[in-house]
Amino acid sequence: MTAISRFIEGLPKAELHLHIEGTLEPEQMFVLAERNRIALPYGSVEELRGAYDFENLQGFLDLYYQGMRVLLEEQDFYDLAWAYLERVAKQGVVHAEIFFDPQAHTTRGVAFSTVIDGLHRALRDGQARLGITAKLIMCFLRHLDQDDAMRTLDEALDHKDRIVAVGLDSSELGHPPSKFRNVFARARNAGFLAVAHAGEEGPAAYVWEALDELGVARIDHGNRSLDDEALVRRLAKAKTPLTVCPLSNLKLAVVTDMTRHPLKDMIEKGLVVTVNSDDPAYFGGYINENYQAVQAALDLTRAQLAAIARNSFEAAFLGAAEKQALIARLDDYVGRGGAA
Ligand code: HPA
Ligand code: ZN
Repeated sequence: MTAISRFIEGLPKAELHLHIEGTLEPEQMFVLAERNRIALPYGSVEELRGAYDFENLQGFLDLYYQGMRVLLEEQDFYDLAWAYLERVAKQGVVHAEIFFDPQAHTTRGVAFSTVIDGLHRALRDGQARLGITAKLIMCFLRHLDQDDAMRTLDEALDHKDRIVAVGLDSSELGHPPSKFRNVFARARNAGFLAVAHAGEEGPAAYVWEALDELGVARIDHGNRSLDDEALVRRLAKAKTPLTVCPLSNLKLAVVTDMTRHPLKDMIEKGLVVTVNSDDPAYFGGYINENYQAVQAALDLTRAQLAAIARNSFEAAFLGAAEKQALIARLDDYVGRGGAA
């Protein structure tokens, strides 16, 4: 391992763009399929992994929704989230803000409470046993209509203390943020913070809408913001964080080549960028593999990597004192030259 890889490994960091259903590894999918007596259309883990070759976002989403059908019981959701936390505890992750897609489960007859009880129990254990703090962000599926999102928000109100924010994900093109204006207004009135996927495949106009019509505090992905100079100025001035996902971008053909990834360009334009893993079981790597991939392709320095990790704490949905404590840990690590 190179010195810079070791530096990344131990770097304290927060993950802010992670779909828990996207951490379902093929091995675990087979275990849960057997436990729940669900037939998978693949004969082996290798065959399933071989199918992970996506042309675009929709090609991925089709397999992502198919894969999560093995999640039925509270314990399944617990096991899923616990496996993720155990894995990233070894990657320097000290805080995680985790997306979940309730509609992808309730539409299959799994109760909202089954999903959130399992996830939340894992997060509590993660804090107690691994020292990772974590929060849940409930995403609305944008390919469904706003009424469906409203009904999901109604259910979420019963679990308000266990959800920090609402988000927006799934098929972006043709489903602009403005479609969800009313449900986001209601969610924010109820005290939820807001984020939205925007500018992954959709145009810069969707990023404007997410800011102006949904009132989001962060933009998930946001790559296409670079097409619009006025938008870049707005994001930089307001210090609106972007949760960038390099390996996802490569696997979903948002970028053609990692050496052409816009992360460095974003940094140079003054944007607050973070590095995240999106759906690591599908895209070939967890958060550190994402840091490693952009570092190698764009020749990022230790100072740039540390600045990205710092951004992840600044951008987190934590109080000022909690952020300061995490940033102090980071500064301490960097001050010791990355020694553990
Ligand atoms: N984009 C949109 N929806 C998603 C993604 C993504 O990268 N991952 C899981 N749902
Ligand atoms: Zn995502």
